[in-house]
Amino acid sequence: MKFENILVSTNDRVTTITINRPNKLNALNISTIKEFHIALDNLSNDKSCKIIIITGSGNKAFVAGADISEFYKFSKDQAHDLSSGGQTKLFDFIENYPKPVIAAINGYALGGGLELAMACHIRIASENTLMGLPEVSLGLTPGYGGTQRLPQLVGKGIAMELILSANMINADRGEKVGLLNHITSQENLLSFSTDLAKKIISNSSSAIAASIKCVNSNFKDGENGYLTEISEFSNCFQSEDFIEGTNAFLKKRKANFK
Ligand code: COA
Repeated sequence: MKFENILVSTNDRVTTITINRPNKLNALNISTIKEFHIALDNLSNDKSCKIIIITGSGNKAFVAGADISEFYKFSKDQAHDLSSGGQTKLFDFIENYPKPVIAAINGYALGGGLELAMACHIRIASENTLMGLPEVSLGLTPGYGGTQRLPQLVGKGIAMELILSANMINADRGEKVGLLNHITSQENLLSFSTDLAKKIISNSSSAIAASIKCVNSNFKDGENGYLTEISEFSNCFQSEDFIEGTNAFLKKRKANFK
């Protein structure tokens, strides 16, 4: 399928989705979010895709936020739908996606851009990255999960400071506070992300999907992550990957997961 706002390419089981609105610093408008959802939905059943890397087009921005020019005249009801639709279609969808999703942050990750990166399972950034939630400077709160995911990643105190000050932080500070997993040069960002992606997909896909579910379970109202883990752990014992993984270990050979 041909998209207008994103580029999707798969190479050796690693799919890269590039947000492609460089003239608008890849700002997320509603149609980009819709396309993103369709692409992710299709890829969830695509056996040639085992892992996804999300990045931005150009060398200046990952995503500079939600598209302000699109929503600045919205009513309260439209704003409600914008936030709720975006969270369901993209941000929560990525967080709960059964295949790993890596954010390769190649510059500004502001507002919805940082929220998108935070919804991903792993964040790798280039040295020129600047991150922040500038919404209060626009008279807004974050609307795509930023007030929830930032404290989960960096703790309440630093999250409060970042949200209330609207300050941007650089990659070094982002790594120090636990927002980023790794920092690389701009030119090595995709190769570094791809190397990690390949290491991840050498493991069992079914165990990876179950592990994502277990980790997320800790953050869901009404769920007990320990019980989710017991259930997912025991389910693994019925899987082909479990038989292959344990037999390979016992026979001193490399596991070959299907
Ligand atoms: N929504 C809509 N358009 C955006 C945008 C956004 N979030 N962020 C950048 N753009 C557009 C600019 O309007 C400009 O478009 P134009 O050339 O048609 O005028 C283009 O992208 C380039 O941005 P510009 O501001 O000229 O680049 P800069 O290098 O001077 O500044 C930023 C970069 C990221 C500091 C600045 O663009 C910015 O503050 N963006 C908004 C960040 C934000 O508040 N995000 C949260 C939104 S809820």
